[in-house]
Amino acid sequence: MKIAVAGATGRVGRHVVDILSAAGHEVVPMSRGTGVDVTTGAGLDAALEGVECIIDAATGPSPDQEQATAFFTASARNLQAAGARAGVQRIVVVSIIGIERYSGGYNAAKVAHEQALLAGPLPVRILRASQFHEFVAELLAWGTQGDIAYLPNMRTQLVAARSVAQALADLAISGESTGTSEIAGPREESLLAAATLVAAKRGAPQKVARATGLDPDSELMEQGAALPNGNALLTGPTFEEWLDATN
Ligand SMILES: NC(=O)c1ccc[n+]([C@@H]2O[C@H](COP(=O)([O-])OP(=O)(O)OC[C@H]3O[C@@H](n4cnc5c(N)ncnc54)[C@H](OP(=O)(O)O)[C@@H]3O)[C@@H](O)[C@H]2O)c1
Repeated sequence: MKIAVAGATGRVGRHVVDILSAAGHEVVPMSRGTGVDVTTGAGLDAALEGVECIIDAATGPSPDQEQATAFFTASARNLQAAGARAGVQRIVVVSIIGIERYSGGYNAAKVAHEQALLAGPLPVRILRASQFHEFVAELLAWGTQGDIAYLPNMRTQLVAARSVAQALADLAISGESTGTSEIAGPREESLLAAATLVAAKRGAPQKVARATGLDPDSELMEQGAALPNGNALLTGPTFEEWLDATN
């Protein structure tokens, strides 16, 4: 099957490309490095020629609500329009568990992303994932001030990006074209504890502490808004298993 992957060099997209290629599928990797810009539409028509399914794993560089919303609404519009022109059958998109429970930020941008894609005309299958194991280091970096990293004590069921990529590849191949489901790691984790393990392995920052003066959305994270529902696909490795196996 010919499958295009938007965000082909990202944390999850690179694994999608790897898994589909290893399984013998014809993969079209799409990122600015391959000459495709999903926000302007540049390169999309040529990239989508003969493609049956698009996997959308692209995201812009900013977690800011306004900038991320602008990215996702433009990319959704362009993927839908170019996909329809090229005769693509469906889109599979990776989203985030619990996004509708928050008041704003990147989560609200992901709600806008889902809605913009669902406006069609192509049918869309949504896979909502927990925070990736690979994302903890980035959250640690964002929260670091000097020797201390300040983070909300988010309750999350961290999942490996490769496991999410496998599920996205399975959905693309299955031909499922509508619906929403969730994927999460094998057990609930504390973001503070996971970030502390990363800091210890790297030797920096010296301390990881709970952020004070939490905003309403951080409080929701601490209350479990990011945890999966009872029907979620739960898949290993655990965060510690993954970290042990990572350089
Ligand atoms: N990170 C998490 O913990 C997590 C959890 C659940 C769901 N998700 C969702 O999973 C998706 C992927 O996240 P990620 O963490 O894997 O992202 P990432 O590592 O930041 O990768 C983003 C990808 O998008 C590409 N990209 C950026 N701007 C582009 C543009 N204008 N045109 C084409 N491609 C562009 C990047 O390549 P270039 O920069 O080379 O163009 C890169 O391949 C996002 O929708 C995110 O919301 C993430």
